Order: sequence, then C-alpha cells, then structure tokens
Amino acid sequence: MEQVHGWVRAARRIAVLTGAGMSAESGVPTFRDAQTGLWSKFDPMQLATEEAFRANPQMVWGWYAFRREMIAKVDPNAGHRALAAFAQRHPGRTTLITQNVDGLHQRAGATHALALHGNIFEDKWLDTPKACCNKEAAAAGSPPYCDQCGNMLRPDVVWFGEPLPLRTLAAAQEAAQACDLMLVVGTSGVVYPAAGLARMAAGKVVIVNTEPTELDEAADAVLRGTAAQLLPQLLED
Ligand code: OAD
Repeated sequence: MEQVHGWVRAARRIAVLTGAGMSAESGVPTFRDAQTGLWSKFDPMQLATEEAFRANPQMVWGWYAFRREMIAKVDPNAGHRALAAFAQRHPGRTTLITQNVDGLHQRAGATHALALHGNIFEDKWLDTPKACCNKEAAAAGSPPYCDQCGNMLRPDVVWFGEPLPLRTLAAAQEAAQACDLMLVVGTSGVVYPAAGLARMAAGKVVIVNTEPTELDEAADAVLRGTAAQLLPQLLED
C-alpha cells in the first residue's frame, strides 16, 4: 500500500480503469460475483444482445428499466468521490475509463469519464433512424417506438457482440499507452477490449479488487480490498 501510494504521488499520468466492483458498495450488483452477480441469476445472452432485444423487446426493455430504477436510487461511494476529487485537484493528470454504465463516476463529479460500454440512462434507436424517428416524440411503450415506422428505442449500452464506441475506445487506448500508472479497480478482467487496456498500459499496473482477477499476473502490484476503502487512501495527497 505504501509503495503504491508512492507510485501515485510520482506518476505524471494516471489511467484508471473501473468495472462493476467499483459500484458494488453503492449497492449495484456486479455481473460475475458467484452469489450476487447478475450473470449468476440471468443469462446474458437473453438480456444483453441485440438478438435478444429483437426476439423479446418487452422483456429486455423491462430488465433495463428495472436496473435504471435501482441505480437511480443509489449514490456514488467513497471510491467514486475520491477519484473525482483527485481529478479535480490534479487537472489533466488522470484519465478515468469505466466499463460501468451506471453514471456513478459522473454523479460523483468525474466530468471526463470515458464510458466504454455506454450509459444505461440514455436511449438510442435500434435501427438506423429515419426522418420520422424523433426521440422526444417517441410513442410510449415498453420499449417506446416511432409511431410512423415502428423503430424501437433501446438502451444506449454496448451489448455482447457489439463494437465499443470508436472514439471513446481510441481515447482510452491512448491514455493506457501514455500512462505511468494504471489503477484497475473492481473488474474481473475477462471482457475485451476493456481488459486489454490493462495489458497495453505503458506504466505500472495496480489491481484493486476483493478477489483474484485474470489481470493479476500482468500487474506490478495487487491490492486486496474494496474500492471504497482503498481508493481514498491511495489518492490522498
Ligand atoms: P464483473 O462482475 O465481471 O467483475 C466484478 C469484479 O469486481 C470482480 O473481480 C469482483 O471481485 C470485484 N469486486 C466486487 N466487489 C468489489 C469491491 N467492493 N471493491 C473492489 N472490487 C470488487 O464486472 P466487470 O469486470 O465490470 O458488460 O464486467 C465487465 C463487463 O461485463 C461489464 O461492463 C458488462 C459485463 O457483461 C457490458 O455491459 C457490455
């Protein structure tokens, strides 16, 4: 811990990559934790793919509506707040990259977070919108739809098999390749290309996680503990 704190102080460019464990202490379930993870109870192929949405739009929309409601009720935790405060105290020194779609980094005050997997509170059209498709005028429904052509709104998140937003990924890769230090917080490190960012980091890599991860072997240090406990200590000036 002491040593990593020293690395944080010395680093000129810090990249932070976060995953679902970052928000666990806010009360948002992770995906792969054995007992509590969403993917231990639900099949991602039936909920988080375009095919699933086309096959059963009402069910998939309903699942996202349920998650939106749940996330809207929780608050950023001490880890989110420590990251946002550090970035404010040290402008231009950190790049925050998140796989989370919950918007909690942003609500904690992290204005420039790179959201690799989108934002659960935003919608976009399932099919390429035509002139008649107007989000504000979408007909109410589950999901809402264009009453002219039937196009449906879907959550603006990255589903399995879909590409990541190009510019966001490019900015994240650039930050990884330019950093002296990367903190990898609360991610199992199994989903690519996000996990690949830790493998391409130019600087030292530090894992902050309660459990072993796929990225531990590629790291310079592994800190066992929770995001809300460890980040405020690590990011103290
Ligand atoms: P996972 O659910 O795969 O991993 C969560 C990680 O957080 C695990 O390694 C846990 O040990 C760790 N963890 C749990 N509580 C923690 C805490 N309080 N502090 C620190 N670590 C903790 O979630 P991700 O790695 O984010 O994709 O999953 C990656 C992607 O897979 C997600 O973005 C999502 C999912 O399918 C999309 O939505 C596209």
